[in-house]
Amino acid sequence: QPRLFSGMQPTHDSLHLGNYLGAQVNWVRMQDEFDAFFCVVDQHALTVAPDPAELRRRTRVTAAQYLAGGVDPERSTVFVQSHVPEHAQLAWILDCITGFGEAARMTQFKDKSGKRGQEGTNVGLFAYPMLMAADILLYDTAAVPVGDDQRQHLELARNLAQRFNARYGDTFVVPEAHIPSETARIMSLAEPTAKMSKSADNQAGNLMMLDEPKVNTKKVKSAVTDTDNAVRFDPDAKPGIANLLRIHAALSGDSIDTLVERYAGENRYGALKTDVAELVVAVQQPFKQRVDELLADPGELDAILARGADRAREVAAPTLAKAYDAVGFLPAG
Ligand code: TYM
Repeated sequence: QPRLFSGMQPTHDSLHLGNYLGAQVNWVRMQDEFDAFFCVVDQHALTVAPDPAELRRRTRVTAAQYLAGGVDPERSTVFVQSHVPEHAQLAWILDCITGFGEAARMTQFKDKSGKRGQEGTNVGLFAYPMLMAADILLYDTAAVPVGDDQRQHLELARNLAQRFNARYGDTFVVPEAHIPSETARIMSLAEPTAKMSKSADNQAGNLMMLDEPKVNTKKVKSAVTDTDNAVRFDPDAKPGIANLLRIHAALSGDSIDTLVERYAGENRYGALKTDVAELVVAVQQPFKQRVDELLADPGELDAILARGADRAREVAAPTLAKAYDAVGFLPAG
């Protein structure tokens, strides 16, 4: 089976609906056809200087959410990035073939470092995309299911694979991004021209998978829309309604056209919101319940992660060895 790799940062206690619809739904859908690796990228999360106890807790909670969302640890490998030292080791090599200007052009780096200012920005934030490329390339990955905001990082990973292969001989598989067509950019409910984001200032726009259902219901009902009162799918003119329609379609399986017909007519925003709220609660309630169960017995979860790390190292170590040899590192002993 061809390989699949993806990951999420354990920077928060809960995934949001964008993580779920933009990435996780595809993970679960694709895990049958691929030999899949799902990684909790704690080393990436370190770039925002989390409290150590929180990072530890959130790493487990994030792994639990992988499973709650449908990742099957019997079929797929679930593990924590820092348990597999090859990631950091390959990242160094990739740092050395990445141009400074090339890394400085990454829009996520520009956004994050812009927000934090020169003083608050660290070198890890700059090197972040090369660590991400290492994650992917270590596993001879063919497919990387992610949301739209990772497109540029994926392009860099492809470029680095090709560059390394050209310079040192064929070593890495060139990966392909799998980005969903309708749910690649779930927008904030409070500010529908900005994506739903864990680091957004306005958390009222985020539907958190582990929040109480009534909190999410309230957020959906207060979602920012427009005053035109007609349900049409027009992401430019009506971003709030388009976002609700996309969420509805993704969760219900109905097409956007069907939904536009169903909610046509005056004053139907309320009905659309009520139905979206119900659909959101219907996925997040069992999700949350499963996470609570998994965390009640962290021994089982930790055993899954330990097995996952062993299996990940079995694949990552030989790839790293090939890369070490290709660049001319002297074998140890
Ligand atoms: P992270 O943790 O920010 O996000 C996890 C996944 O959720 C997707 N996503 C969204 N999709 C749709 N709408 C949104 N509003 C939305 N917000 C987030 C992201 O695209 C991502 O797929 N750099 C990565 C983590 C990473 C990784 C990797 C991913 C590290 N190494 C290797 C794939 C392969 C990140 O920060 O994701």
